[in-house]
Amino acid sequence: MGPLGQYADQTEGYFMFPKLEGEIGNRMVFRGKERLVWSLNNYLGLANHPEVRKTDAEAAAKYGMAYPMGARMMSGQTDYHEQLERELAAFVSRESAYLLNYGYQGMISIINSLVDRNDVIVYDSEAHACIIDGMRLHFGKRFVYPHNNIENLETQLKRAKKMTSETGGGILVITEGVYGMSGDLGKLKEIVALKKKYPFRLLVDDAHGFGTMGPTGAGTDEYFGVQKDVDLYFGTFAKSMAGIGGFIAGEKRVIKYLMYNMRSQIFAKSLPMPMVLGALKRLELLRNQPEHREKLWNIVRALQNGLRNAGLDIGNTESPVTPVMLNGSVGEATQITFDLRENYNIFCSIVTYPVVPKGVILLRLIPTAVHTLEDVEYTIRAFKEVKEKLDGKVYTAEMAEV
Ligand SMILES: Cc1ncc(COP(=O)(O)O)c(C=O)c1O
Repeated sequence: MGPLGQYADQTEGYFMFPKLEGEIGNRMVFRGKERLVWSLNNYLGLANHPEVRKTDAEAAAKYGMAYPMGARMMSGQTDYHEQLERELAAFVSRESAYLLNYGYQGMISIINSLVDRNDVIVYDSEAHACIIDGMRLHFGKRFVYPHNNIENLETQLKRAKKMTSETGGGILVITEGVYGMSGDLGKLKEIVALKKKYPFRLLVDDAHGFGTMGPTGAGTDEYFGVQKDVDLYFGTFAKSMAGIGGFIAGEKRVIKYLMYNMRSQIFAKSLPMPMVLGALKRLELLRNQPEHREKLWNIVRALQNGLRNAGLDIGNTESPVTPVMLNGSVGEATQITFDLRENYNIFCSIVTYPVVPKGVILLRLIPTAVHTLEDVEYTIRAFKEVKEKLDGKVYTAEMAEV
């Protein structure tokens, strides 16, 4: 059954594949009861914004979910797809952008089409599954550096430079802008500085940073002021944009190349019109209503400061992603989560081994613009109590009975 599937019998429907019902927001229904939800990447609260809901509904009424039929290259092209690409490119200060049907599949194809057997990929050890899967299609070498370890990155770049000087290939470095589990940022400034010494191109997966980071929300590279040195910028609509799809942005000729070579886009149906018109509306709100990002960061600061002051370990997060790290077994993790859900009515995600090292329990909180300061205070109190119970051995090693 695999590393996660082995727990299917005890966890399905509760810890795994839980059903959250009702309108997307800070409070949703889980198992018939309202809970305070901290597990949705609806960072800016756009999922239920009235203008978003209206645009989605009108677009579906006008076009249905079928239009346009076929892949972009064959019969699925529209003015709106192109308009969205122009607007995305302008927003992230790039020459050009191209839509991806899903971020995940898009990333696989981006990597696959950028490199050949003579090229070397250098990547961070905590890279998201879509980056790992993209590299599985790569016939050439790939060198990993320990998470954010710039000294080791340089060692890998030295090796890569030597190798590509023999093969005649190039080097592609891949990092994330915001790491989605720990919330820490890819060291973009330091990585970019290495371009002076080593010839490489940089691809940044900014799934969690797009819309949340930087003065205008244009992403982690805007936050660090290095947009010009990030050759390819990847974003998804699945998080801040509360939609589906994604995009890749960069130099015009590179995007043109990707447009004609990304197999996941050439051989798959185009994004349906409601997703495209919906994304245009979300992008408009993201650009023109900074108050959503300000609200998000107010909640982020209150939550992270409060948790730290309460003695909880939230690691090195510099983004809205808020991990609470505890020590304990998988059994204890399920008991804590059960306690939080049933007795405190708090719903958050739980991450255990093998996603994090053995003995670590990571409870991940995703603050959003639609949370309130009361939600924050209540949650900090609850987490403090849970930590005290964990330290007092109130939870046992058995899996919680759900
Ligand atoms: C870092 C990262 N990259 C890529 C993706 C995939 O994006 P999508 O949900 O659009 O397929 C995610 C989403 O979970 C992500 O967190």
